[in-house]
Amino acid sequence: MRPLPDFSSKAFLAPMAGVSDPALRLLCKELGAGLVVTEFTNIHAIIAKEKQTQDITTFIEFSEKERPLSVQLFGSDLKALEGAVKIVSHHFDIIDYNMGCPAPHVTEQMACSALLQHPDLTRKIFRTMVSATDKPVTVKIRAGVSTPDRFREIAKIAEEEGLSMITFHPRTVKQGYSGKADWSLIKELKEIVSIPVVGNGDIETPEDVRRMLEETGCDYVMLGRAAMKNPFIFKQIHQYLKTGKYDLVSDAERMNAFFRYLEYTRLYPTIRFANIKMQAMNFTRGMKGGKEIREKLGKVKTVEELREVLTPLC
Ligand SMILES: Cc1cc2nc3c(=O)[nH]c(=O)nc-3n(C[C@H](O)[C@H](O)[C@H](O)COP(=O)(O)O)c2cc1C
Repeated sequence: MRPLPDFSSKAFLAPMAGVSDPALRLLCKELGAGLVVTEFTNIHAIIAKEKQTQDITTFIEFSEKERPLSVQLFGSDLKALEGAVKIVSHHFDIIDYNMGCPAPHVTEQMACSALLQHPDLTRKIFRTMVSATDKPVTVKIRAGVSTPDRFREIAKIAEEEGLSMITFHPRTVKQGYSGKADWSLIKELKEIVSIPVVGNGDIETPEDVRRMLEETGCDYVMLGRAAMKNPFIFKQIHQYLKTGKYDLVSDAERMNAFFRYLEYTRLYPTIRFANIKMQAMNFTRGMKGGKEIREKLGKVKTVEELREVLTPLC
């Protein structure tokens, strides 16, 4: 197993397509995330873009301030995978492989969570990745397809093939996001493998982080939806794990953080306005009058209009 970089915190930001763009990652990093991961990226797109531009960083944008930084890939064509890993290997500190996404448009291409049912191909994928790079390779998995069973075998394969860490979202593909993430499965996984395990699923508060660490014995935790509403959660987790207390965040502070995010988006041409608007809506979730604000945001067509709606809230 290749060594992982040092992480400044046990709490990581989850990869989220359309959400964990470089501006949000930078903000979460500044607020204390120990690791940030890019949105999942198609291996064929990486190869095509590299051919077209000879510079993959114009397609997968990031800043040095995000390091250590993990890039997440999906796709199961072994030749394309080898090529894509070699391209990204120069730029990223960790190469993560997506075996969790349940969306039919990817599973129909034998990618992401579809692979949970194909242990032989999964082994070849891991082997291909590890031999194409000297960077640590990691994987993010779900518990199984219709029942929570496949994670055991896949995790063993990951360990045998030299992967450095497993992130586990203990829901089945069939569940999507319904029901509860079954944290007892994270505990079970931790007992099966000796490589580090990142527990993921339904963490809402710093108290949840402590509970997941204590109940499951996982090495790290990963937060998705809670961080997209409140990136300050990384700061709160740090405070809580150290002192047992944390500062509450006012609505105005959250809005100020959104404006910081907005400033950062100017650095990254790949971030689309539709995504910025959606991030603005996410930041208002749980805020006083949030529903009315989101109704107004739904109608804005430019960054200037968006600023006009949100500035009075700072
Ligand atoms: C909008 C959205 C996009 C996501 N995109 C990805 C992705 O690109 N790669 C991935 O591995 N997981 C993706 N996920 C799953 C999250 O990384 C995470 O596993 C899941 O949200 C459970 O964690 P949470 O309860 O903290 O949100 C996505 C989730 C959401 C809500």
